[in-house]
Amino acid sequence: MKSPDMSKSTILVTGCCGFIGSAFLRRMVAQYPQSQFINIDKLTYAGNLNNLKSIEAKKNYHFIHGDILDRDKVESIFQEYKPNIIVNFAAESHVDRSILDPTSFLETNVLGTLMLLENAKKIWQSFDDKRFIQISTDEVYGSLSETDPPFNERNNLQPNSPYSASKASADLLIRAYYETYGFPALISRCSNNYGPYQHPEKLISLAIVSLFLKKPIPVYGDGRQIRDWIYVDDHADAIECLIQNGEIGEVYNFGGESEKRNIDVIQSICDIFDRIRAQKEGESRKLIIFVKDRPGHDKRYAMDISYVKEELNWNPSTSFEVGLNKTIDWYQKNEMWWVPLLQGELKDYYKKQYHL
Ligand code: NAD
Ligand code: DAU
Repeated sequence: MKSPDMSKSTILVTGCCGFIGSAFLRRMVAQYPQSQFINIDKLTYAGNLNNLKSIEAKKNYHFIHGDILDRDKVESIFQEYKPNIIVNFAAESHVDRSILDPTSFLETNVLGTLMLLENAKKIWQSFDDKRFIQISTDEVYGSLSETDPPFNERNNLQPNSPYSASKASADLLIRAYYETYGFPALISRCSNNYGPYQHPEKLISLAIVSLFLKKPIPVYGDGRQIRDWIYVDDHADAIECLIQNGEIGEVYNFGGESEKRNIDVIQSICDIFDRIRAQKEGESRKLIIFVKDRPGHDKRYAMDISYVKEELNWNPSTSFEVGLNKTIDWYQKNEMWWVPLLQGELKDYYKKQYHL
């Protein structure tokens, strides 16, 4: 099966009003003016039309407000646009929320994926340049100890949270579609993303916003858990690379080769903040508070990315230090984006999650 020609494709993307999907679209819509991009997004609390303001008027971009679980709507989108590439970002993505209530995670992340697979299978019989990219996560592999080698693509799936179990379920479904129907799917598993436009429920964005508001920064447990951080534009680049050069039926691990303990990440953010605000050294760190640990908290994630380096010639290009400075700078200049989010849904969530 030949690789699709990105310069003249019809690309259905899902969930691109969220953090990573919007970074991908802002890049791709500008880069491929002859291709059509159709974005279906339910606009949950995590979906935000402001993330795509810079491309909303472009002729090659179409937004459809809809749920990937809506059978009639999804079927009519496939009939009308006949996409030859699908990139499935749509998901409930926050681990803590999946612990509070897993239902929507199973619905969107598993059944929503099934809906897309079924519709693509129906229309793709006569296509020869087609591919389905599933945006999965390193969390499907479970947790590492401090001395384990990083996850590679052959690690078993051992998810520990309802969120990661739902993502692993979708990965298994996709594997079954490939094995049973020869369905042209590829799976990307990436580590923790950070960068502009990330909803302030996730660790880095929450810490930055808390600092601007002079509010406590909640660190779970002892803060010694480790994540492998990647700047979001590097992930967008990885997905573009996968569409063009990935092999059908394969799984690809992506990561930033930047393992950090949570407490070190938070302290770095505090120290940058002191510098940009010309505050006394150590001032911001006073806002750090240690709170009750996340149940089933995974100790460490780390990605072995030697396969994508060799096979796709892909490397992350943004160091953690550069990415973090860029991110803090963006939140400083874009209060208009995040201040409105602090009312309503997020306010209630903070109360429920942190009792703050
Ligand atoms: P996000 O929560 O910021 O955005 C999710 C988007 O999906 C939102 O726009 C939301 O409105 C939309 N959505 C949710 N349910 C939907 C439905 N039923 N139908 C249509 N749209 C729906 O998520 P994100 O952080 O951008 O993550 C995107 C994808 O990347 C997810 O699949 C996630 O599992 C995966 N991922 C995330 C990270 C990370 O660090 N954030 C890392 C690796 C993989
Ligand atoms: O690894 C990829 C995954 O990264 C993605 O699949 C998920 O969609 C994404 O949400 C993210 O999951 P994490 O649980 O790793 O990210 P989060 O930002 O929620 O937490 C990062 C670490 O920080 C984790 O060890 C928990 C901790 N944490 C998080 C929050 C929100 C805190 O200590 N305090 C907090 O308030």
